[in-house]
Amino acid sequence: MVEKGRQRLDKVLAHMGFGTRKEIKKLVKEKRIMVNGELANDPGLHVLPVRDHIEVDGEPVEYRQYIYIMLNKPQGFLSATEDRFAQVVVDLLPPEYRAFHPFPVGRLDKDAEGLLLLTNDGKLAHQLLSPKKHVPKTYYAVVCGMVTETDVEAFRNGVTLNDGYRTMPGELKILRSGPESEVELTIYEGKYHQVKRMFEAVGKKVIYLKRIAMGSLILDERLKPGEYRELSEEEIKKLRELNPTR
Ligand code: URA
Repeated sequence: MVEKGRQRLDKVLAHMGFGTRKEIKKLVKEKRIMVNGELANDPGLHVLPVRDHIEVDGEPVEYRQYIYIMLNKPQGFLSATEDRFAQVVVDLLPPEYRAFHPFPVGRLDKDAEGLLLLTNDGKLAHQLLSPKKHVPKTYYAVVCGMVTETDVEAFRNGVTLNDGYRTMPGELKILRSGPESEVELTIYEGKYHQVKRMFEAVGKKVIYLKRIAMGSLILDERLKPGEYRELSEEEIKKLRELNPTR
């Protein structure tokens, strides 16, 4: 029986982005992989990745199971892992990150920009998306039409969307009011096109939308659209604190 946590060497290295199983078999054949100081001669060798010391070309492999990436999503990309026709956010990542099979936590519309978390940590994603958790999401929006205190009040009370759904209270902050207004809106749920539909409910149209925060995670302003970085330990810890069982 295989000891708990043990996995095939080729599977571990494929997960860490060292290539396909076939490519790893070749690395083994070329004697480029060591396990605990000994040459690996079988790609099917069972290893305990958190304990065993694996080296490829003399470089230690730092094993990790999960990856957490903050992406500033650009317009024109679908929040998906694959699509037959459109470009998807995962296409923006390099192969060494894609090897972890990250997926977007929640969705931003194709024409929306901003904070998107990509991870392969299903448990954390589930927590962040759970309707019961009411994780706040903050958006910056440019709205066609004059946003006023009446709208602030309406959002505070919840508005009725075009399908009859009454939203939870949202916090609307007016940054600039004019024929085109700039606002920040925090909502605690994630209905389809929610921000756009909330403004439609008060007779206005969102013409630009960017998510700037989700829970404790704040979009890194240094990331231009299309750019990404891994989350810091601190950012991951704070996100996990949402879930006391973890
Ligand atoms: N609300 C929207 O209307 N669109 C998004 O992408 C996110 C929230």
